[in-house]
Amino acid sequence: MNKVGYSKIKSLETPGDIFDLTGRVGVIVGGAGKMGQQFAKVLSRAGAQVVIADVDGKTCEELAHKIESSTGGKLVGLGCDVSSQEQVHDLFERVDKELGRLDFLVCSVMGKPDGYYRSFDNYTVDTWRKVLDSNLTGTFLCCRESRRLMRQSGAASIVMVSSIYGLVGPDQRIYGKCTPHKNPYGGPDNFNAPGSYAASKGGLMAFARYLATLLGPDKIRVNVLTPGGVFDGQEKAFHQEYVRRTPLGRMAVWSDYSGAILFLVSDASRYMTGSNLVIDGGWTAW
Ligand SMILES: NC(=O)c1ccc[n+]([C@@H]2O[C@H](COP(=O)([O-])OP(=O)(O)OC[C@H]3O[C@@H](n4cnc5c(N)ncnc54)[C@H](O)[C@@H]3O)[C@@H](O)[C@H]2O)c1
Repeated sequence: MNKVGYSKIKSLETPGDIFDLTGRVGVIVGGAGKMGQQFAKVLSRAGAQVVIADVDGKTCEELAHKIESSTGGKLVGLGCDVSSQEQVHDLFERVDKELGRLDFLVCSVMGKPDGYYRSFDNYTVDTWRKVLDSNLTGTFLCCRESRRLMRQSGAASIVMVSSIYGLVGPDQRIYGKCTPHKNPYGGPDNFNAPGSYAASKGGLMAFARYLATLLGPDKIRVNVLTPGGVFDGQEKAFHQEYVRRTPLGRMAVWSDYSGAILFLVSDASRYMTGSNLVIDGGWTAW
């Protein structure tokens, strides 16, 4: 019992103690994405130094400056394609060299290669592999390459951003109501939720549980954040159907996940690992 040293565990008494990230350093991969940017803002405002990492380095740098001017925090933008072993290795080398520590990693990547929305019968192996390479293998590479640095933290946190479609199958009828060939994200294919996305996001849930048991002794926590769909200008028919099926009666807005990311990264969740925080307006409660 004494070996654990319970009396030395700091008692968390105030919101300041619980959520303060001052002095901590974290990387968000997929950080230039819509959700990634929101995460960067919140975590920066909580005191963390945040690295925004995404495929286009210039965009990451510009975003880092933009967020710095609104939060007053210190951010860094670095280019990294997480499907490349070399680039992921270089990313964490640079974090080590330039920032000297790593306390959290948020994997918020969503790869959408050519052919992403093609129908299941015509889905190519190449597209399938690229989605898994970014969403699932990319997360594996980031976790593997960051372990050395994170174990030095003594209180590190990995958050894998999944999706309701990693938990439950899509209600295909909702997509059936959308106007054919009017995909809000572009391209000739009908809007839908591809199987490659579901497989990659479901894979993250199993991987997080595996990694939680492996990295517990290193004091690295590993959890999943499972968001529901965010309103992003989708067409009326889709929106109506989505809302009808959601107990809270609306889609999410980006900031609906701000509290969750701060909770998962900070000491607020320091006794939580291998878990899945589902924030979906009740979508999976039926
Ligand atoms: N938007 C939603 O409605 C929603 C719902 C549930 C879950 N999610 C999850 O939230 C996360 C963020 O989604 P978003 O809405 O911000 O999407 P987004 O497309 O705006 O962001 C995803 C980011 O991932 C980056 N990316 C893609 N491949 C990459 C690679 N190989 N290496 C590095 N970066 C890569 C993209 O450049 C992009 O900036 C995703 O994991 C997604 O599955 C989103």
